[in-house]
Amino acid sequence: MEEHNLVSKAKIRILVIDDEANAREGLKDLLEGWEFEVAVAENGRLGFEAVKKFQPAIILSDLVMPEMDGLALLNILREEGFLNLTTFIILSAHGNINTAVEAIKNGAYDFLTKPLDVVRLKILLEKIANRSALEKEMGLLRDKVRKLGTFGKLNGSTPKMKAVFKQIQVIAPTTASVLITGESGTGKELVAKAVYLGSKRKDKPYIAINCSVVAKSLLERELFGHDKDVTLGFKTQEAGCFELADGGTVFLDEINELSPELQIKLLGVLETGSLRRLGGKKEIQVDARVIVATSRNLDEAVEEGAFRADLLDRLNVFSIKIPALRERAEDIPLLAHTFLEEFNLKNDKAVKGISREAMHLLKTYSWSGNVRELKNVIERAVVVSKSDSLDVEDLPETLTSKAHKAPTVQFRLGQTMEDVEKEFLFHTLSYVDGNKTKAAKLLDISLKTLHNKLAKYKSSI
Ligand SMILES: Nc1ncnc2c1ncn2[C@@H]1O[C@H](COP(=O)(O)OP(=O)(O)OP(=O)(O)O)[C@@H](O)[C@H]1O
Ligand SMILES: [Mg+2]
Repeated sequence: MEEHNLVSKAKIRILVIDDEANAREGLKDLLEGWEFEVAVAENGRLGFEAVKKFQPAIILSDLVMPEMDGLALLNILREEGFLNLTTFIILSAHGNINTAVEAIKNGAYDFLTKPLDVVRLKILLEKIANRSALEKEMGLLRDKVRKLGTFGKLNGSTPKMKAVFKQIQVIAPTTASVLITGESGTGKELVAKAVYLGSKRKDKPYIAINCSVVAKSLLERELFGHDKDVTLGFKTQEAGCFELADGGTVFLDEINELSPELQIKLLGVLETGSLRRLGGKKEIQVDARVIVATSRNLDEAVEEGAFRADLLDRLNVFSIKIPALRERAEDIPLLAHTFLEEFNLKNDKAVKGISREAMHLLKTYSWSGNVRELKNVIERAVVVSKSDSLDVEDLPETLTSKAHKAPTVQFRLGQTMEDVEKEFLFHTLSYVDGNKTKAAKLLDISLKTLHNKLAKYKSSI
C-alpha cells in the first residue's frame, strides 16, 4: 500500500485574471518562478472560460475589469458550484477594500492589496497549497475506506472482520440474546451497538451497563430497580434498566463480573420475561433484548465455578467472537489511516501519512490492547508529530524497542521431546503470567489439551 505517497506532486495550477497586461504578465512570471503552473485571462468573462478549461486550484483575480468584474465572476463561480473546487483570492487596489470585504462574504478566500506584497503572497499560496493537498488526500482516504470496508463505525477489510460483519447482519434483526467475546479493546462495544442499530428495536432505548464499573451494591438496583428505601438517600421507587429499556435493548458489558446472586436473578428475567424490583412484591413484565460482552473466557469461568453454566447457555444463543488485532494485522493500515484522519481533525493537525518504517512497526507489534491501543498510539503520534508524516520517532518506546518481542528458550541436544514440551509449556505459561487461555492461544492448542498436558506434567514433577 502506498502509505505516504498519496499526494500527487503535480504542479498546482493558478489562474491570474487582470485587465492590465503588465500586472498580469509580471505575476505570471513570478508564480512560474515558484513552480506553479499559470494561465492568464484579461477579464471576468474570459476568466470564467479559463476556469472551465484550465481547472485551477487557485484564482488570483483583480476586482475592477471591463466586461465582467471580479465580484461578478465570483458570483457566477459560486452559483455554478466551482468554489468547492477552487480557491478565489481577490487582488484589490487600496481604494477598494470595502468591495474586497464584500467579496469575502461572497465566498472569496482572502484578498491581497496592490501593489502586491510578494512575501505575503507566497505565504498565502503555501497555506492554500498545503490545505488543498491535505483535503485531496483525505478525500482519497475516505474513498478508500468506503471501498475497503466499514460496518457502521467498525472498520475492517480482512476476511476475519468481514465474517464478523456478516454475523452481525444475520443476528441483528432477531430478538435473540447475543454474547460478544474478544480481548480488551477489540471493539465489543461497537459490535453491540451495531447489533442494536441493525435491529427492529433501533428506535427504542439502548441501555448499556458495565458490570465491572458500577459498584457491586448498586448493580442490583441499576439492573432490576427497587421499590423500598433500602438505604437512606435513595429514592423509594426506581425502575431498573430492564424496565427502562421497554421494548429496547440492554447491553451488559463485562458480564463475567456479575455476582452469583445476580446471575440467578438475570437468568430468571431471561426465562420468565419478568422481574421483581429489589424490595418489591409485584412481578413486572419486561421486554428487553439482551446483549452481553466479556473479554474473559466464560467456558473457563464456568469450569472454575465462577459463572453459571445455565446462564451461559441462555446468553449464548448467538455468539460473536471478535479476533484480536494481531490475528488480522492486514487491517492495521486501514485502521491507522482512519484514526489519523480522525485525530488530524480533532487536533487541528495536518499529518498526511505514515512512513513506511513506522507502518512496519505498527503492523508487526503484538497489540495486547488491540484497536484501543492502536487508536491511542495514533492519537499520541499525531499530537507529537512535527512533520507532515508520522514517523518512527512519533511512536512510543513500547513499539520501537525490541523489548516487546517474546523471550527465547534454549534446549540442549539430548533432551527428550517430552522434556522439551514440558519446559516449553511452563515457559509459555510464565510468559503470559499464568493465563491459561492466552497460553493455549499462543501454543495454538485447545484449553482442554493444555489442561490435560499440565495435569500430566504436574503429576510427573
Ligand atoms: N473495527 C474497529 N474500527 C474502528 N474503531 C474501532 C474498531 N474496533 C475498536 N475500535 C475503537 O477502539 C476502541 C475500543 O473499542 P471498544 O470499547 O468497543 O472495545 P472493547 O472490546 O469493548 O474493550 P474492553 O474489553 O476493554 O471494554 C474504541 O475507541 C473503538 O471506537
Ligand atoms: Mg468494552
